[in-house]
Amino acid sequence: MLGDFEFQRRAVVAEIAKAKAHFDAGHAEAAERALPWPKHSTEIKAQFPELWAEWGTLHNKICQRQADLYLQKNIPVEFQSLDPSIYPCPESLASALEFTPGPRDENGMELPGFKNGLLLHGPTGAGKTRAAFAVLSARLRSDYPDRQFRYVSAPVLKRQLADAARGGRSHAVLEDLLGDQYATLFIDDLSQARFTAAFAENLFELIDRIHREHVDVIVTVQTNGADLVRKWCAEDRDLMDTAQAIARRLREYCFAVRFTLPKQSKPSAVLPLHQSATDAANAHA
Ligand SMILES: Nc1ncnc2c1ncn2[C@@H]1O[C@H](COP(=O)(O)OP(=O)(O)OP(=O)(O)O)[C@@H](O)[C@H]1O
Ligand SMILES: [Mg+2]
Repeated sequence: MLGDFEFQRRAVVAEIAKAKAHFDAGHAEAAERALPWPKHSTEIKAQFPELWAEWGTLHNKICQRQADLYLQKNIPVEFQSLDPSIYPCPESLASALEFTPGPRDENGMELPGFKNGLLLHGPTGAGKTRAAFAVLSARLRSDYPDRQFRYVSAPVLKRQLADAARGGRSHAVLEDLLGDQYATLFIDDLSQARFTAAFAENLFELIDRIHREHVDVIVTVQTNGADLVRKWCAEDRDLMDTAQAIARRLREYCFAVRFTLPKQSKPSAVLPLHQSATDAANAHA
């Protein structure tokens, strides 16, 4: 009669064979299901190091494939590649990639007192959104299946909140965004949504919860904090307190990385859309 442990060793051999067949046939999800964490893993590791190494190698390959499929599905196609020869701000990208969120406790909850957020700020075209997706990709690849992410651009968030408010459901939109404690929330283009009283109230609630609940967040914004507050309140000074409260929480909670445009790529003149660059050069000749 086979002991529990030998029985389990044979089970692992069979699971590896099954998972490998799924993986080779291009079915990464089925392969992941076919390769559960082995019972008696400590004994298997000690007694059969080669089998354990084989399990680990296949498990890593499956995770990498699953992570890549997730990224293909969840990153907009225009941000799927990063070509260093044309990327405008590589030093800032490197700083963003180096940042690691604070540690988590045994239940996977972020610990207080650490900066968990990443705030990428700088002018349009400096590469903030592309950098944010590069950070999210690196995190997911090293920590699949944790560290999945949710993407929302601020103008879309504003519209979703406005639509939901008609049915009294704005709260559900925020719950949905914050629902998964392991996911990173990516809020793109924070300065691009017009700051109305209703949006200010909801945005404050969102940022306040991110701050209090130590949610992993990446935010991109085209201005620095002071300019953001000025822009938001240009039309309605009554929103100043809320705008400042949001900016303060972001400043406290986020590690900020400044993006700049390379000098030579500054536009020398704004061309009308109907005028080609050649027309403009001829006009100046
Ligand atoms: N495949 C690529 N690899 C690297 N850089 C690219 C690639 N395609 C375009 N770029 C560059 O990326 C920059 C735009 O990046 P991105 O959209 O992330 O900027 P942004 O700072 O988010 O701008 P905005 O504030 O307008 O949203 C442009 O300078 C463009 O030249
Ligand atoms: Mg962008």
